[in-house]
Amino acid sequence: MQTEQAREVPVVAGLGSWLPPRVVRNEELAQRLDTSDEWIRTRTGIAERRIAGDGIATIRMAIEAGSRALRSASAQTVDALVLATSTPDQLCPASAPQVATGLGFNGIPAFDVNAVCSGFLYGLASGGGLISSGMAQRVLVIGADTFSTLINPDDRTTMPIFGDGAGAVVLRAGRPDELGALGPIDLHSDGDQAGLLFVPAGGAQQRVDGVPMEAGDYFLAMKGAETFYLAYSRMAESARTVLDRAGWTVADVDRFVGHQANARILYTVAKQLGVPEEKVAVNVDRVGNTVAASIPLALADSARDGTLRTGDRVLLSAFGAGLTWGAAVLRWPDLRVC
Ligand code: COA
Repeated sequence: MQTEQAREVPVVAGLGSWLPPRVVRNEELAQRLDTSDEWIRTRTGIAERRIAGDGIATIRMAIEAGSRALRSASAQTVDALVLATSTPDQLCPASAPQVATGLGFNGIPAFDVNAVCSGFLYGLASGGGLISSGMAQRVLVIGADTFSTLINPDDRTTMPIFGDGAGAVVLRAGRPDELGALGPIDLHSDGDQAGLLFVPAGGAQQRVDGVPMEAGDYFLAMKGAETFYLAYSRMAESARTVLDRAGWTVADVDRFVGHQANARILYTVAKQLGVPEEKVAVNVDRVGNTVAASIPLALADSARDGTLRTGDRVLLSAFGAGLTWGAAVLRWPDLRVC
């Protein structure tokens, strides 16, 4: 039995990411929607995003990112797999078992976590919990979404925002004082506000009510301005909570890696917290909002461009439909991103 002193915690041991090849630039959207590159850049910070297709959907992207994370961790096996996604390849079953099989791990526990844009933090908490409970020594946590499939291509408000992609980490059992040790993690939800960002059709309610849906009901409906306000205020609140629990001050934070929904949201959160702009990781300009893949993709890009360095104190923060939100901290480990 584990004693209090010997309790193992999840430690980040590998990081990988993958994007579908098709790049859609703002100019391409402006050719068919009543918008412009200038409007999208100014209001969101986004210049381009990747869009899946040609047979590439969530499972394929998750396998690509997962295999890279395994390579990064030099890991041959894992004991469990958590897939954070709100766009599984089929409504039923979950996609995680097919991802596990695709990676050669048929038989391990594998399940989806759906917390939309906070999905990766919820996935880290779930995968980390398997380790700290002693159920697993090594867990692959993947964030992957093909959210473009839920977006009305003719909606100028939502179409420019979202992109597709996948990122993954390997968590291993380790000590709380090691670089890469994860936590604390702070998570929340508010179902009263589910109507701010939701897809009306395609779920059980429609069948139960027997009400025929309009074609547009299969796409995301979003109240942008209300979402914007709640996103930055909840992210800042949760970040303060987690810093407090970790015993860190805002000045201790070397890198703020927030969910990449909109560059303005990230800078507003940073301003509210007092984190200087140069510490804010931003890759939303190149990938858009990739939902559950957002945080691992931002970590991967920051590590690759050298702005995230071994030993850095990292603050993670996310907000998404549900509503869901949360924050986490870790000290960045010495690893090679794949
Ligand atoms: N191009 C040009 N005009 C656009 C546009 C586009 N792509 N999208 C919206 N507009 C228009 C609106 O129709 C509105 O026009 P109106 O004043 O004539 O009604 C005007 O721009 C202002 O709209 P508003 O919604 O107030 O703009 P905004 O500055 O709030 O920016 C969002 C809109 C969607 C970019 C912003 O609200 C946002 O990012 N919200 C959060 C969304 C989000 O992050 N969702 C995921 C959360 S995880």
